Amino acid sequence: MKVTVVGAGAVGASCAEYIAIKNFASEVVLVDIKEGFAEGKAMDLMQTASLNGFDTKITGVTGDYSKTAGSDICVITSGIPRKPGMTREELIGINAGIVKTVSASLIEHSPNTIIIVVSNPMDTMTYLVHKSTNLPKNRIIGMGGALDSARFKYRLAEALEAPISDIDGMVIGGHSDTGMVPLTSHATRNSVKVSEFLSEERLEQVAADTKVGGATLTKLLGTSAWYAPGAAVSGLVQAIACDQKKMFPCSTLLEGEYELSDICIGVPVILGKNGIEKIVNIPLSDAEKAHMQASAEGVRKTNGLLEV
Ligand code: LAC
Repeated sequence: MKVTVVGAGAVGASCAEYIAIKNFASEVVLVDIKEGFAEGKAMDLMQTASLNGFDTKITGVTGDYSKTAGSDICVITSGIPRKPGMTREELIGINAGIVKTVSASLIEHSPNTIIIVVSNPMDTMTYLVHKSTNLPKNRIIGMGGALDSARFKYRLAEALEAPISDIDGMVIGGHSDTGMVPLTSHATRNSVKVSEFLSEERLEQVAADTKVGGATLTKLLGTSAWYAPGAAVSGLVQAIACDQKKMFPCSTLLEGEYELSDICIGVPVILGKNGIEKIVNIPLSDAEKAHMQASAEGVRKTNGLLEV
């Protein structure tokens, strides 16, 4: 199993690190445009191998996509991250050009690859990969929902004063401050609905804190987060590499599901060796349905800024 991660910045390096620590991939190639940067990150990570007990071989290259040839999975993290006060949507001008060029270079050397898009605005960048490549839809996956769901579970555990392992919950919709749809009505603590333990107001606060999860960190860190994004990507990569058939919310091309078409947005999917093996339809409350439609409107507005 060969995995390429494009972008050796904080998110890309964190993806490589978590993938290596989970020890299921034989090889991870880190690619960056900054001379020597990916090589340096790869060497530093390889020097943790004996300490962390993994055998994954991590190499770094400066813009040489021939070294990515034959990758089973490619992760695109390249582009600029947001700064405090910026929305993910404001990054589109620079990141669209980068994602289009990078995906073409990856597919040239790995025509059978599955692509995971992390660059923001993620749903629109996933749609761009659909529009600008000929990959089938099961092989183009946008990573946002797995991260947003992890942040939702963190906030629920905090509100419930419970260990996170007790909590289950999912966030669908667009990966944006207004677009996320935390499925509060489905969230549970050890199979009991969280609404049994928390007031409506407290649950609304949990949902609101979840939606600005990325922005809160950007304000604290001065740039966007990397540990949870990297861990979320490694979960998707592992599900595909190990054919786990796990369910994650991912951004995928919809063709009528959730009453939406010609859009990439987060919905629950089953991930296995073929990438997205199934889109899972789950019942939504009327409020969640309305929230999902409004979220899609926001994503479409950003898609309208693309030149494809
Ligand atoms: C975040 C970025 C990765 O939410 O979109 O932290």
